[in-house]
Amino acid sequence: MFSNILTTIVAAAAVFGQLGQAQTTPADEKWAAAYEKANTALARLNQGEKIGLVTGVGWGKGACVGNTGSAPGINYPSLCLQDGPLGLRHAKSVTAFAPSIQAASTWDVELIRQRGQYMGEEARAFGPDPYLTGIASMETIEGIQGAGVQACAKHYILNEQEKNRETMSSNVDDRTMHELYLWPFADCVKANVASAMCSYNKVNGTWACESEGIMNKLLKEELAFPGYVVSDWNAQHSTAQAANTGMDMTMPGSDYDGNNVLWGPQLQGALGQNQVSGARLDDMVRRILAAWYYTGQDTGFPAVNLNANVQGNHKENARAVARDGIVLLKNDDNLLPLKKPAKIAVIGSSTVVNPDGLNACPDRGCNKGALAMGWGSGTVDLTYLVSHSPSDDGGAGAQAAQGADIAFVFVTSDSGEGYIEVDGHGGDRNHLDPWHDGNRLVQQVAAANPNTIVVVHSVGPILLESILQNTGVKGIVWAGLPGQENGNALVDVLFGDTNPNGKLPYTIGKRAEDWGAAIVDGDDNFREGLYIDYRHFDKEAIEPRYEFGFGLSYTTYEYSDITVDSSATSGPATGTRKPGGREDLFETVATVTATITNSGEVDGAEIAQLYVSYPESAPETPPRQLRGFQKLKLAAGASDTATFNIRRRDISYWDVGAQEWIVPAGEFKISVGASSRDLKLDGTFTVA
Ligand SMILES: *[C@@H]1O[C@H](CO)[C@@H](O)[C@H](O)[C@H]1NC(C)=O
Repeated sequence: MFSNILTTIVAAAAVFGQLGQAQTTPADEKWAAAYEKANTALARLNQGEKIGLVTGVGWGKGACVGNTGSAPGINYPSLCLQDGPLGLRHAKSVTAFAPSIQAASTWDVELIRQRGQYMGEEARAFGPDPYLTGIASMETIEGIQGAGVQACAKHYILNEQEKNRETMSSNVDDRTMHELYLWPFADCVKANVASAMCSYNKVNGTWACESEGIMNKLLKEELAFPGYVVSDWNAQHSTAQAANTGMDMTMPGSDYDGNNVLWGPQLQGALGQNQVSGARLDDMVRRILAAWYYTGQDTGFPAVNLNANVQGNHKENARAVARDGIVLLKNDDNLLPLKKPAKIAVIGSSTVVNPDGLNACPDRGCNKGALAMGWGSGTVDLTYLVSHSPSDDGGAGAQAAQGADIAFVFVTSDSGEGYIEVDGHGGDRNHLDPWHDGNRLVQQVAAANPNTIVVVHSVGPILLESILQNTGVKGIVWAGLPGQENGNALVDVLFGDTNPNGKLPYTIGKRAEDWGAAIVDGDDNFREGLYIDYRHFDKEAIEPRYEFGFGLSYTTYEYSDITVDSSATSGPATGTRKPGGREDLFETVATVTATITNSGEVDGAEIAQLYVSYPESAPETPPRQLRGFQKLKLAAGASDTATFNIRRRDISYWDVGAQEWIVPAGEFKISVGASSRDLKLDGTFTVA
């Protein structure tokens, strides 16, 4: 699966910029202009300053989790690097946005872009599908960098599990690398991301931060990435090899004891012995300066202040993403939305804020109380609120459920970073059941109340089979990871103020084996190849419990009138290499439209999805791959047209021999529908 792919880099500075002689000119006007400024500035730096710009000042020194040296002569500040996949880490008053997997669950590009912009003003695993991850990353980067903050695509690359991530090697074949794992990074580069972070793991036995194959070859040559590669914290293992294979900045500059400095004076030594060339050092600095100029941080960027309160109205976006990422999985007897019920029972230890305090666990390293920050509804007229310790929950929960009109029972499943162990889970989850004996809790509540609705807060798929065996379970609300607006978002949907409109960004299977890929001990050879998540379920004809792209609504939608128009030609992409790869890969070569009608009684929003099946002349390819989606807001009775623009890359496969993206000749099949299995319209186009 894709881990979270974006973080935030904040910088502070003043102004400089004159004409200069560009030495390396990216095939993009705005980047070329940034390179020109960078070259002028570079000419005014001495070697010591250059080394300072590429080396972190050391762990624990400076305002941010990472800080570089500065260059006052060109008004270049100490760059401040801070974690920020869902908000700015260690800052005092920032918005806790809904995590990126929740953003993916909304499939709403406007909300995702706005989320990025707001995160940028305050300072990215989206899911297992590269297309959805790529589009969501693109919108996020444009949002963040539009606010003048440098975004960072991470973790580059194949950092797909937490276990052993600092020792294991990820060995993936070239085609899978391109079609799944590199794909969203190409979108990040296309969106002009300022930097990328090399990961902790090895790739084909070589550390990511000293891999010629992934940094110089794939990222800088093939994707024409004009920005810089920064190491994950202490992911660097060598001085010269890291420099010569394409790493441009080391963070935090020392290990956590302040020792093991690999650049700084060591880089100076390597330069002196000609193990690293002066030209390579200049290239590193040029990339770093160009990213700074590109994002406009040379003019009017404020000093870094982690205590500033700049949240503004951002909580509205946090609430909208949390709300529109909620996926309604089951709603028997149309129990939802709630119709003025007299008595509601709310059960589960995750229904309350951590009793030890809202931020009691450093880095949220515990699983107590509500999974996301602040279960703070205040808007539900509760009859019961059970907040006993988990072992008491079953009995007390059943008691509370008895006699209520509806019982809501909450279960959770958590995961995190390997440096903290929570309830025996060392980062990745040990199993796909709800935590805290959630299955037993649901069973006891459902036995006591025939109108039980299960609310799931989870970092990813869990097995729902045990829960579904209870006849009292009439509904399942997949509330994901909601961020700070948790309770508000849920109440919006439960009471019908918002018609649920999220769709699953992954498949929920019936058994753990159904996914066909798992956390591994030791190295990971990615034997499943292209067949992850729904690609695997479709190929093996395994019936999922709830498929990728699935989500119910309080209304109904009808699909009609598909049109398909294509100008695609077969053969390799041949365009100029611009940021993101060959230019023609991003050109629209086919357009599909379909009419979607809200045929029910309630206003809503439908995410129409387009899947492509390749002709037989292509090498074996997954039966269907997501290659377009559009969310349409539709009042009751209204119709609108969904338009899908299919790019050349979307109908290409990566040819390992030719080392190019090829459009195969033959008939492509197009399916448009409400999920990866609920395909309502078919069309074809033929490529000569
Ligand atoms: C890793 O090795 C595989 C198998 O030889 C090869 O297909 C792939 O291109 C290699 N990847 C990198 C980044 O070197």
